[in-house]
Order: sequence, then structure tokens, then C-alpha cells
Amino acid sequence: MPLHKRDAMNGKRILLIIGGGIAAYKACELVRLIRKQGAEVTCVLTDGGAHFVTAMTLAALSENPVHTTLWDLKNEVEMGHIQLSRQADLIVVCPATADLMARMAVGIADDLATTLLLATDKPVMAVPAMNVRMWQHAATMRNVATLRSSGVTVLDPDEGMMACGEYGPGRLPEPEEVLAAIARHLEGRHVKGPLTGKHILITAGPTHEPIDPVRYIANRSSGKQGFAIAAAAAQAGAKVTLVAGPVNLPTPPSVTRIDVETARQMSAAVDAALPADIAIMVAAVADWRSAGEANQKIKKDGSGHVPPLELVENPDILASLCKSARRPPLVIGFAAETNDVLAHAEAKLARKGADWIVANDVATHTMGGEINALHIVSASGIESFGEMSKEAAAAALVQRIADVFA
Ligand code: C5P
Repeated sequence: MPLHKRDAMNGKRILLIIGGGIAAYKACELVRLIRKQGAEVTCVLTDGGAHFVTAMTLAALSENPVHTTLWDLKNEVEMGHIQLSRQADLIVVCPATADLMARMAVGIADDLATTLLLATDKPVMAVPAMNVRMWQHAATMRNVATLRSSGVTVLDPDEGMMACGEYGPGRLPEPEEVLAAIARHLEGRHVKGPLTGKHILITAGPTHEPIDPVRYIANRSSGKQGFAIAAAAAQAGAKVTLVAGPVNLPTPPSVTRIDVETARQMSAAVDAALPADIAIMVAAVADWRSAGEANQKIKKDGSGHVPPLELVENPDILASLCKSARRPPLVIGFAAETNDVLAHAEAKLARKGADWIVANDVATHTMGGEINALHIVSASGIESFGEMSKEAAAAALVQRIADVFA
């Protein structure tokens, strides 16, 4: 599939951190190219970066104020650094110097750029540029490995003649190449893996079904298993859309997250995210909702009268998806059961029309906990994994999915 940069980037927000190196001049061209694709750019200029390019140049090209200091009281009031770090779709560090990457790797936050990088919950891409010896130094290699293993996308530098007169890897890739990497990242296609090119749609977490403006029906789902599967799928190269109920979890790197509250919102979000190659419905969707949501808080009047709570059935997102004309080629449901786990899962496989049902026993500590024991139930039999962390269970499931598409 050809890459349409404009589609991937239109309306997206990039926070561009410009480090101190001669390659900083290429960041100016990058700002221009990003704007041409219809994306917004907000620039953060480090002290080092300001020795090479001016805030004026970046402000003119980005058509946005440029941020340079952590200690700008006016900005702290108008736009705190936390907010600045959270409002972007992607943070790009370009050029990423050896020093800046070292500070990122250990979590130092002693200026605006590093503070934003520590405070963010958004995906981060670093585009290194430095002298060849600095790039090849064991310390830099260690720092790059640390950053990559903690989810930062570190691009490889280009090889060639450098500004310092030496030859080798360390040059900043041309702005067009950086732009293409940004577009790939925003499309979720930056990682090459067994699921590259596949769109995986995942639901996770509970739903909240309002009774009145202050009360709701919920369940104990934490969303951890679904989020771990989303993270593992993205690491395997898939483009991942995660439709999340109300949970308190960070978005995994390179995952597009859509927050919803109710089953009906979740159903609409799943519909809007199609087409997909694979759907994994992990969410613990409330089976029922209140038949009539009160507009005002239902009051206790002291008479001992208990208001009736009439329930109606919610849409079954998994079953509808299986019947839909846009059914993904592989649909996986989950079955959280407290008893007769496998028998219930086998019955659910036929009833819902899914290809696999992943069963887990929630009688003890799975819901909200860290450990899970999954069983994949399909027409070809049952495969059971032992007890393991939710991350390991996610990796095992994603591996089985990759096997199907191999
Ligand atoms: O029927 P039950 O809730 O046990 O089925 C669980 C599976 O069905 C899970 O994959 C869950 O995400 C999905 N489900 C759904 N919509 C519902 C209820 C369950 O998608 N209303």
C-alpha cells in the first residue's frame, strides 16, 4: 500500500524538540514540510539548539509560539509544561544529540525539553545527529538501546560526509526522510514485524452505564489485559486502534486510542474504526444498562422508598461485528468466567460467531490483577497457556495471531 503522507498527517499535532547541533538547520525545513502536510507544529528549542537556529525562524515557519524555557511564568499559567507534553500526537526530537539522548535515557529533567519528554504520555521519536565517533561510542549505543526498549522510536542516522569533516553514520537523515518516518509513525506502520500492514481493532476495559448524572453501573475490569495486547500488537508492527472504556492506564506507544464510556459509544467507535484485519474484543462490556437514565440525581427522600432499577440489554458488539458485512477476517472474543470456563467458552464461540474465544478464569484474582491464564478456544481445539503476567499472555496471543497470517 503506498504511503499517503497527507492523509496520515492532516490535522495531527507534532511537538518538535530541536537539540543543539549543526543539523538543527534541517529542523527548519522539517517544520515547513510538516506544515505542508496539514499538520500543526509546536517547537521547543533547547539552549544548545538556540546556538544554531533562532526562535524567530521557527515561529515564522511553524506559525506558532516557540517554547524555550521551563521558567517562563507567563507560559506556566497559560500553558503548563505538562499540558504541552500531552497535547501532541507525536513528539519528535530532531536533531537528537548524544547528550540529549543520554539525558532522556536516564530520565533527567533539567530543562524544558527533557521535562516535557519525562512528563509525556505520547509516543516519542528521536532523530539522532552527531559525530560518527559519538554515535558509535558504547555509551551512546547503550542509551539508544535503552530508549528503544522503553518505546522511543530512534531512527538510524544517515551515513556520509559530516559537517565536522569525518565520514560515517551520524548525519541527520534528509528532512523528507524524517517526514516519511513521522507519517509512518502516525499511521502505526513504523515498526517492521510479523503484523506490519495489518490493522488490529481492540476493545478494552469496562463500560460505565449511567443511572443518573452521578451514578453508574460498572464492573471490575482494569483494562490491563486489553492494553497489554494493544502494546504487543503495535510492537509486532500492526496499526492498532484501541477503543477503551473508562480506565486509568497510559496509552501504549504508537497505539491510536479512542476513549468511550458506555457500551453504545463503544459499539459506535468500533463501527467507525472499521475496516480491520483482526478484531480482539477484550472489553468487559456491561450486558445491561439502565432502562431510563435520569436527567437529575435520584434523591433519597427519607421515606425508605427504594427506586426501581429497570435494565435493558446493551448491544452485543462482538456478535454484531461477527454478523456484519465488514467482519474482519479474524475475530477474537474473550470469555471471563467464574465457573466451567472452557465449556462456556465453547458455547460462546458458536453463539457469537467468533473465530476464537480466549477464555480466562476470573473467579480468583484475574480482574484488576497482574496475572492471567488464557485458553484459546477455536474450531480446531483448545490451546492453554499457563499462568503468566498479562504482558506475557498478550505476547503469546499476538504470536498465535501472527502465526495465522504468516
Ligand atoms: O457474553 P459475554 O459478555 O460473556 O461475552 C464476552 C465477549 O463478548 C467479550 O469478547 C466481550 O468483549 C464481548 N461483548 C461485546 N458486547 C457485549 C457483551 C460482550 O462485545 N455487549
